[in-house]
Amino acid sequence: MLSGIQPSGDLHIGNYLGALRNWVRDQERFENFFCIVDLHALTVLPDPAALRSRTLDVVALYLASGLDPAKCEIFVQSHVPAHAQLGWIVQCFTPIGWLERMTQFKVRGQTQGRERIGTGFFTYPALQAADILLYDADYVPVGDDQRQHIEFCRDVAQRLNALHGDVVKVPEPLIQGVGARVMGLDDPSVKMSKSIAAGHPLHAVFMLDPPDQIRRKIARAQTDTEPAVRDPVGPGVANLIDMYAALRGVDARSAFDEFSGKTYSALKSATADALIAALEPIQRRYAELRADESALRTGLVASAARVTVIAEATLARVQQAVGLR
Ligand code: TYM
Repeated sequence: MLSGIQPSGDLHIGNYLGALRNWVRDQERFENFFCIVDLHALTVLPDPAALRSRTLDVVALYLASGLDPAKCEIFVQSHVPAHAQLGWIVQCFTPIGWLERMTQFKVRGQTQGRERIGTGFFTYPALQAADILLYDADYVPVGDDQRQHIEFCRDVAQRLNALHGDVVKVPEPLIQGVGARVMGLDDPSVKMSKSIAAGHPLHAVFMLDPPDQIRRKIARAQTDTEPAVRDPVGPGVANLIDMYAALRGVDARSAFDEFSGKTYSALKSATADALIAALEPIQRRYAELRADESALRTGLVASAARVTVIAEATLARVQQAVGLR
C-alpha cells in the first residue's frame, strides 16, 4: 500500500477522514509506504522555510495519528531521487491530452489562467504515478478527489506494459464509502481543501485546531433553513452526517437515522464531540513528536535509505525495458 500527502498547508479533517486514518486502520494488513510529497508541494512555489517546516509537521502528524514506523516506511519523496527519475520516464509515456483532462488542472486553469500555472503542476500526475509504481503498490488509499489521478496511473502503467512487456504493477485505488469526500464547512458545494482553507477561516477544521475552535467552526457550518434533520437533507447537513458517520465508524444511513427529526444543533454538537474525541489524543502526541526534530529527521533518513533500495530496483527495471540501460 502506498500513499502520500502534500506538505502544502495545514492538514484538515478531509485529509484525516479520506486518507490518514484509513492508513492507520489498515496498516496491519499491508506492507506500507507513506510519503510526504514535497516535490508535489513545490509545484505551487511555497515559501522555502514553510515547505521545510511543513514537511516535518506532516511527518509528526503521520506518527501522531498512529502510523507505526515499525510497520510503515515514512519518508520524504525528494529524499529518494528515483521518484523524479521515474517521473520523467512516465512523462515521456504520457500524451498531453491525458494531462489536459485532469480536473485539478482544468479547475486551476479556469481560476488562474493557464499562462500562470507552472509546468510541474500540469505534469504532476506523472510524478504521482511514479510514486506509486516505484513500490509495485497493489493499493493506493486516497480520498475521492484522487480517483482520477490513480486512474491516470493505471492508464500509464498499462501503456508501459503494452509497449514493453509487464514492467510495472497496475495499482488499484482504495476509496472509503464515508469520509472520502469531505466538503467545505462554509460552502458544501466544494471539496474541503488546504488551499481554500488558507484564505477562509470557516472552511475547514484542521487536525490541530483546539476544541473550542472545532466547536465554533462546526457550529457555524452551513446547513439550510429546515428546522430539523429530515430527508432529503441538503448538502451541508449531509456533510455533517457523513463526517459523524466516518468518525463513529457507521454508515451514513444509520447516522442519519440517529439524528432524524433532531435539530441541527444536536447534529452539530455530536459531530464536534466526535471530532474532538478523535483529534485530542493526536494533538497531544503531535506536540511531543514535533518538538523533537532530530528524532523525526533520523527516522526519515533511515526510511529513505531502506526504500531507496526498492525504488532503485524498480527504476532499473523500467530503464532496462525502455532502453536506458
Ligand atoms: P493531498 O495532499 O491533496 O491530499 C492528501 C489526501 O487527503 C485526501 N483528501 C480528502 N479526502 C476527503 N475529503 C477531502 N476534502 C479531501 N481532501 C484531500 C486526498 O484524496 C489524499 O488522499 N496528489 C496527492 C498526493 C500524492 C499521492 C501520491 C497520493 C502524491 N503522490 C501517490 C497517493 C499516491 C495530493 O495532492 O493529495
